[in-house]
Amino acid sequence: MENKLNNWENGRWIGQTLEVENGVCALPANKEYKLDYNDDVKLATDHLYAGVSNFIPKFEWPAYAPLVHAINTLKKDKNAVILAHNYMTPDIFGLIGDYTGDSLGLAVEATKTNASIIVQGGVHFMAETSKILCPEKRILIPSLRAGCSLASSITGEDVKLIKKKYPGLPIVTYVNTSADVKAESDICCTSSNAVAIVEYIAKKWNVDKVIMLPDEYLAKNVAKQTPIEVIAWHGRCEVHARFSSSDIKDMREENPGVVVLAHPECPPDVVSESDFTGSTKAMSDYVSKNKPKNVILLTECSMSDNVAMQNPETKFVRPCNLCPHMKRITLENIYECLRNEKYEITLSEALRKKAHKAVMDMINVDFDPLKGHFDPSLSATNVKVI
Ligand code: 13P
Ligand code: SF4
Repeated sequence: MENKLNNWENGRWIGQTLEVENGVCALPANKEYKLDYNDDVKLATDHLYAGVSNFIPKFEWPAYAPLVHAINTLKKDKNAVILAHNYMTPDIFGLIGDYTGDSLGLAVEATKTNASIIVQGGVHFMAETSKILCPEKRILIPSLRAGCSLASSITGEDVKLIKKKYPGLPIVTYVNTSADVKAESDICCTSSNAVAIVEYIAKKWNVDKVIMLPDEYLAKNVAKQTPIEVIAWHGRCEVHARFSSSDIKDMREENPGVVVLAHPECPPDVVSESDFTGSTKAMSDYVSKNKPKNVILLTECSMSDNVAMQNPETKFVRPCNLCPHMKRITLENIYECLRNEKYEITLSEALRKKAHKAVMDMINVDFDPLKGHFDPSLSATNVKVI
């Protein structure tokens, strides 16, 4: 008998598409790779199950364990690590990720690891960032289709034209961009440090205006937090742009007392209606520290699953949106990626060096993590979108 299970239900991840044959679950890849749930696999993996028991039913564990074991064995054999973004599904995040976190955290980890291979559990711009920082390492991404709507909204040529139009103004570029774009920029930022970076570079250049690319909403949210004038590009995150302030009003009505946390890639009116806004790490830290009874994370779906794993006492309302790019990374293609050492990120040295300066200048800015939070009560914005 064959039974197919869906991956998602009401915004909650409910596992891979499994085949059930003769009462035994199998990921399709296990059959292809002849991976069995044998005694060695049991011994090596069964202690990991408790961490993901809310997401993987016990009867499905024999389908996951062989692949998890095979990946963890390959990591050891090849001196490889997996950097897993907070938007990875709980199997990747909780079972095989060596480092988990937000874009800034993963970039910093890339600079510290002694591994020879980094597998990016995330999207293409994140893998490029790892290559920019670690040219001597092999940087692999499991799917070349793991892109990003922000990264594809702007090119290096666009940045060159902007520089011509606004000479004398520094260009702050979100890390969610290609290496080409980073190479044309004066400094990068992430959602953790965007306000601090804008203020830092304005002071360094002795200007009261900066160009901030390519996320229009992040730029508008930053502009509310600082007297610095911001010139923004019109890129948007296709995941966060879908949230609206009327959604929040409805959710508050349906869930009295719920605490609403938003990512700063959300539209500014969503940020104004939220209780707290910050990077994925800041949201995760907020839940761990404040332990709200009931919380909504206005961000990508897997984030709630992963934060819920670490905060079992909090109830998560899940009006999340899926990032199709992040979801292109799976246990199966991570296994293939490690086995076949593909797909490798390569960059020309000249381009990498230029991009490296922009990323390192960002990493070297000491910032107060509290400055990474966005005060929802501030509304005056000094921003122009080009
Ligand atoms: P952070 O994890 O840096 O907040 O980024 C969110 C995001 O959208 C990454 O693609
Ligand atoms: Fe890009 Fe948005 Fe997906 Fe992040 S969540 S990778 S910003 S499309």
